[in-house]
Amino acid sequence: MSTPHIAAEPGDFASAVLMPGDPKRAERMAGLILDGARQVTSVRGILGFTGTYNGEGEHHGKPLSIMASGMGMPSMGIYASELYQFFGVERIIRVGTCGGISADVNVGDVVIGVGAHTTSSMNELRIPGTHFSATADLVMAAAAYTAAEPGQAVFAGAIISSDHFYFSIPGQLDAMITHNVLGVEMEAASLYGIAANFGKRALAVFTVSDHLTKKGGDMTAEERETRFQGALKLAVAAAYV
Ligand code: HPA
Repeated sequence: MSTPHIAAEPGDFASAVLMPGDPKRAERMAGLILDGARQVTSVRGILGFTGTYNGEGEHHGKPLSIMASGMGMPSMGIYASELYQFFGVERIIRVGTCGGISADVNVGDVVIGVGAHTTSSMNELRIPGTHFSATADLVMAAAAYTAAEPGQAVFAGAIISSDHFYFSIPGQLDAMITHNVLGVEMEAASLYGIAANFGKRALAVFTVSDHLTKKGGDMTAEERETRFQGALKLAVAAAYV
């Protein structure tokens, strides 16, 4: 039973799916943290894998899927909707990057998106006359937060999901800073809206890859990989609650 965008069978996905934006990152993550990973879909180059978690601890050996979302809210919306509706998926954890906005966060830190403001109209259409509140699953967010290593820089709060990477309205960034928005990315608000729509659960965990107001301090390639694994560990903790 394939859907328009996922060529897989029911049962090919675990009940929890980690979702980076980039298909190559999905493949690398599968190689890194799954035993017996098999590719379950590749429609339009959006790769999905299922195996068992190979890390130490209580979750070792449990089924886990990893699939890319592509970039932007419409793309995330397509894959999250099909996974939740047709493949028995209960929990999706976006594992992505965000641009830092708050002065509190630095490149390399981890941000847990408890709520997602958005410039998109996707959630405005959900409840007529209502500004929809796009929120993460509290139990998953708490599991991710408490899985942090002592001393690991992890922030939990509101992020903004933007339709634009290269454009902002004058005054928008300043207002985001005033309102303590931690970072900007392009998918979480859509994921949270769709999870609510289908009575499912979702979380987004980010590595801060760049900073919109603090220049310099960009991560080296090696730092990106190790810091990214910090966020990945938190995402896995959220996959099994
Ligand atoms: N804007 C939007 N999405 C992002 C950014 C950004 O600066 N950095 C990482 N994802």
